[in-house]
Amino acid sequence: MRCVLITGAAGFIGSHTSLLLLNAGYKLFLLDNFSNSSPISLNRIARLSKLSNNEVKERISIIKGDIRNLSLLERTFLTAKSQGEKITSVIHFAGLKAVGESFEKALDYWETNVGGTLTLLKAMEKNDCRTIVFSSSATVYGQSTQDSLIETDPVSPINPYGATKAAIERMLTNIAGCNSHTTPKQKSPSGWRIACLRYFNPAGAHPSGEIGEDPRNIPNNLFPLINQVGVGRRESLTIFGNDWPTIDGTGIRDYVHVMDIAEGHKAALDMLMLSEPICLILNLGTGKGTSVLELIEIFKLSTGIEIKYKFGPRRMGDSAISLANPKEALKYINWKSKRTLSDICRDGWNWQTSNPKGYDDAYSKD
Ligand code: NAD
Ligand code: WQD
Repeated sequence: MRCVLITGAAGFIGSHTSLLLLNAGYKLFLLDNFSNSSPISLNRIARLSKLSNNEVKERISIIKGDIRNLSLLERTFLTAKSQGEKITSVIHFAGLKAVGESFEKALDYWETNVGGTLTLLKAMEKNDCRTIVFSSSATVYGQSTQDSLIETDPVSPINPYGATKAAIERMLTNIAGCNSHTTPKQKSPSGWRIACLRYFNPAGAHPSGEIGEDPRNIPNNLFPLINQVGVGRRESLTIFGNDWPTIDGTGIRDYVHVMDIAEGHKAALDMLMLSEPICLILNLGTGKGTSVLELIEIFKLSTGIEIKYKFGPRRMGDSAISLANPKEALKYINWKSKRTLSDICRDGWNWQTSNPKGYDDAYSKD
């Protein structure tokens, strides 16, 4: 049985990817320190998989702990061995991700994201595990232009969070023995198999409404904010600027369904397992842009819910447009997004209305 360690497994993207891999027959070691998530999401994954209790025990091991803890990581590899298994690959989601906070807590971001990844890679190498799929971000491109972004565009992050993602990409291409950190596919002379996936704007939820995005504090991102206004947790949405050079003056982004992102991880992992040692750097986006006002309109058409909004000033560090060119992901891992913006709105709203306070609601009923 293929055995995968997933860091940050209880989080938004980690939980959806874990469920997908569980249903695809993988054995999973799910590691999280729950600093930005709830263990309830892992219970829900087990429930949604429809495995028997015994199968769940065989197929899922939950490790509460930190990626900066080398001995914990080494123990995890040893535990797999003691069960007659070998962890042959890692999907690495764990990390801090709030752009604004990264300015105030830059050191924490470097320690967790870069230091944590370094520790993880050491544990992997020591245990002869050289396959990793890493959560990178469109943020590495910095200020975007009107054109869609391709992987060979300059990496030039404009915030500490993005700088840590760019540094990790460099670390990974270095250990792979590759020259470039912008080439979509390169051979790895050192024998690593690596995929850095640059996601654009993941949104939505699993269609069951049982797992979804559950930000611990005030959300930074537009989609969870729209949902919280919709459900009455917030009075109204402030749109950051109506004077951008776009069709209606509001910012354009590439929103991609979280289940499409989860499928991108499976596609990357499956490709790495089959291929010679390589390093991939790939955008995961739809290639279609949507403005803030358009998203509010599609949300209304898909859910019947009208979102109250007002215009405010531009947010520091924002750009008019951020759009993926996803053709390299199609070429190298045979992945493209399948779901629509209406699917994102319908599934996200289903999650939000079934769990108005996120997983906090669940403590009594799960
Ligand atoms: P998330 O915060 O929901 O998930 C991250 C998980 O990592 C959380 O469960 C958190 O508890 C855990 N974690 C944090 N620090 C840890 C540590 N030191 N040790 C162990 N676990 C730790 O975020 P997400 O949206 O699911 O994002 C997953 C990854 O994708 C992150 O690396 C993020 O930077 C990246 N990413 C996210 C987006 C997005 O918009 N959601 C876009 C691009 C990239
Ligand atoms: C989308 C649009 C805002 C909130 C961020 C990170 C990026 C990645 C994805 C992790 C923009 C507008 C937003 C609000 C608004 N995450 N907006 N009012 O900024 O594209 O990307 O999340 O890697 O790194 O930077 O996403 O959802 O914050 O904003 O008008 O209250 O919505 O100006 O046009 P962004 P977002």
